[in-house]
Amino acid sequence: MSIFTRRSKKARKDDSVVLPEHIGIIMDGNGRWAKKRGLPRSAGHTAGAKNFRTITRYCSDIGIKYLTVYAFSTENWKRPADEVSALMTLFKQYLEEALTDFKYDSIVVRFIGDTSAFSPELQELIQRTEAESASRTGMVLNIAMNYGSRDELVRATKLIAEKVRSGDISSDDINEELISSHLYTAGQPDPDLIIRPSGEYRISNFLLWQAAYTEFIIRDKLWPDFSTDDLDEAINEFARRNRRFGGV
Ligand code: IPE
Ligand code: IPE
Ligand code: MG
Repeated sequence: MSIFTRRSKKARKDDSVVLPEHIGIIMDGNGRWAKKRGLPRSAGHTAGAKNFRTITRYCSDIGIKYLTVYAFSTENWKRPADEVSALMTLFKQYLEEALTDFKYDSIVVRFIGDTSAFSPELQELIQRTEAESASRTGMVLNIAMNYGSRDELVRATKLIAEKVRSGDISSDDINEELISSHLYTAGQPDPDLIIRPSGEYRISNFLLWQAAYTEFIIRDKLWPDFSTDDLDEAINEFARRNRRFGGV
């Protein structure tokens, strides 16, 4: 898709719509997408990775400030070895491409999750992607890889416990802000909107703490079929919702 096509899509957007500052997406349904076509699950992951690029660049185009995508959970290691290995190969390929691709949109790429579990080669690529994009000024893209919210909270708890033990802080200093500042998403606003395609009504260990007041949108479409028009429609629905945060 040419950059002009994408820019003209932006022009179609209603300027009066209040955009979510931070969107989270659970990129689910790749396997079912492939099965429907009689293809191996890995073909669904390839189609999903392609859509990740399209949707990411579209979010950047329309002015989203933060996008967090769930690419691989701490529980996804349970899958058959050939599927996990196909995913790892795909991550490498897409990170290489993302390094150049997202440069034109000035996207800052960050990774959330325990990346130490990946191969040295993939870890090197992750570090290089983060370092090369750190000085950019555009949308922040968090790619959740080997991410699990419970794991993130255990990690934060250990970091805080160590600070209390060493006397850096006292237990009275522990409050919501302190906990937030020890999560992978430290310094970023909580997601306003989380979208889950593929029709599943669950959170699957994604941003449990951060999603305390997030709006949820579930769509039946499988992730590789989830289009920029579907995203526009979700953003419009988000804009119509009345967020009260416990008030009246
Ligand atoms: C999401 O699609 C991708 C990952 C979890 C890595 P799935 O692979 O979960 O697809 P379904 O849910 O089986 O259709
Ligand atoms: C959530 O999808 C994780 C990602 C999309 C990366 P899953 O397919 O792993 O979640 P469950 O098993 O349906 O809850
Ligand atoms: Mg799934």
